[in-house]
Amino acid sequence: MTETAQGEKTVEGAKKLFIKTYGCQMNVYDSQRMAEAMGSEGYVLTETAEDADMVLLNTCHIREKAAEKLYSDLGRLKPLKAERPDLKIGVAGCVAQAEGAEIQRRMPLVDLVVGPQAYHRLPKMVREGGGVDTEFPAEDKFEHLPKSPATRRAPTAFLTVQEGCDKFCAFCVVPYTRGAEVSRPVDRILTEARDLVSRGVRDITLLGQNVNGWHGAGADGGDWELGRLIRALAEIDGLDRIRYTTSHPNDMTDDLIEAHGNEAKLMPYLHLPVQSGSDRILKAMNRKHTAEEYLRLIERIKAARPDIVLTSDFIVGFPGETDEDHAATMALVEKVHFGMAYSFKYSPRPGTPAADRPEVDAAVADARLQELQALLTRQQKATQESMVGRELSVLVEKAGRLDGQMIGKSEYLHAVFIENAGDTKVGDLVRVRITRSEANSLGAALIRA
Ligand code: SAH
Ligand code: SF4
Ligand code: F3S
Repeated sequence: MTETAQGEKTVEGAKKLFIKTYGCQMNVYDSQRMAEAMGSEGYVLTETAEDADMVLLNTCHIREKAAEKLYSDLGRLKPLKAERPDLKIGVAGCVAQAEGAEIQRRMPLVDLVVGPQAYHRLPKMVREGGGVDTEFPAEDKFEHLPKSPATRRAPTAFLTVQEGCDKFCAFCVVPYTRGAEVSRPVDRILTEARDLVSRGVRDITLLGQNVNGWHGAGADGGDWELGRLIRALAEIDGLDRIRYTTSHPNDMTDDLIEAHGNEAKLMPYLHLPVQSGSDRILKAMNRKHTAEEYLRLIERIKAARPDIVLTSDFIVGFPGETDEDHAATMALVEKVHFGMAYSFKYSPRPGTPAADRPEVDAAVADARLQELQALLTRQQKATQESMVGRELSVLVEKAGRLDGQMIGKSEYLHAVFIENAGDTKVGDLVRVRITRSEANSLGAALIRA
């Protein structure tokens, strides 16, 4: 007996699928959906490529290093394919979209290439032996995916509500790889959420490249924005926690900010990328807001929900960035105080407007990245330490390595290790007292009722 792609029991002899996921949470969601779709073709998930009849690499194109990982991984699959020529190799995701048939030219061992908007056609492609599909079909891929069986799920889940991006930041490939902004309809989202909850999910993170740009026709006929959708989701019994990511500062509506103040199921956590603290660079990036506007927005969000933990993304060494621009980024970080943030060295991406602009000296960019990361690490540490002594709730996701230890997430999305957790089970929402802060997690003791 083995686990199928959907977690069902089947007899030995089923075909085995190994999926490797790179990149963002949307790719994680897409990999799950592809696994379910392939489940209907008789494929069960497996842990290694060596064990698999089919290997699917779900790729990311955001930075050069991310994209190059695909080719090194394909290189490593060569001996396996030479040994077992019937092993199917597929490339999905954003590199598939950006490079299409070029992938097969460079790496002939690849049988199929499928873009992020065409993956509902994956089962058919596999049946037909391969091919390249990087279309943006008119049909809704979510509606054309084979239905997933009603099996048990982990307590947390992603749910894509919006996909694509019309913002065209000068550095970014996403508008090209994911296409134009599309919002999924309200009824489909509510149906999927109810289905997830009926399968054991208690915490849903709504996904979109510009998730707060989501809008749709509600049951009342009105045009809903994300705040309204969150309130409708909050009415689902058994759903305890709602989050959303990633947002653009310009789409933070009053209603959404208000939801942070009065919708108890909306968690006090917000990822709001700013990229830079310099107006000159923000303009060159085509972010369409100033540093001051971002700071004022943060003030309004904190007024609605004073304990909110804010996280962000930064790019250092964007073309034209001076020491003064970098100092402005450092100053913005000092003012906001982030709970955590991702910071990246600018990576020129073919086809984007910034790709042809003169680059900042690599050593200078490295030094700026180090300085920024040191500050962000201090702020992360301070945020975690501020949790010590507090009573928080934790949604338990898995058992820890130590005896009696369980691991879950707090309201603020910190990983929490609960010691001596007794009979606490995966999926329980428990009260804990935070006892210590480690590099990337918190320790806690169970508060027994
Ligand atoms: N939709 C989100 C983020 C998408 S990509 C937003 O609007 O912010 C995730 C992060 O990768 C970005 O926030 C940015 O910080 C980083 N990133 C995107 N393109 C990049 C590039 N060319 N070089 C370095 N970092 C990049
Ligand atoms: Fe990329 Fe900008 Fe769109 Fe975010 S908003 S996905 S950074 S183009
Ligand atoms: Fe990467 Fe595509 Fe996500 S480029 S970050 S996998 S949208």
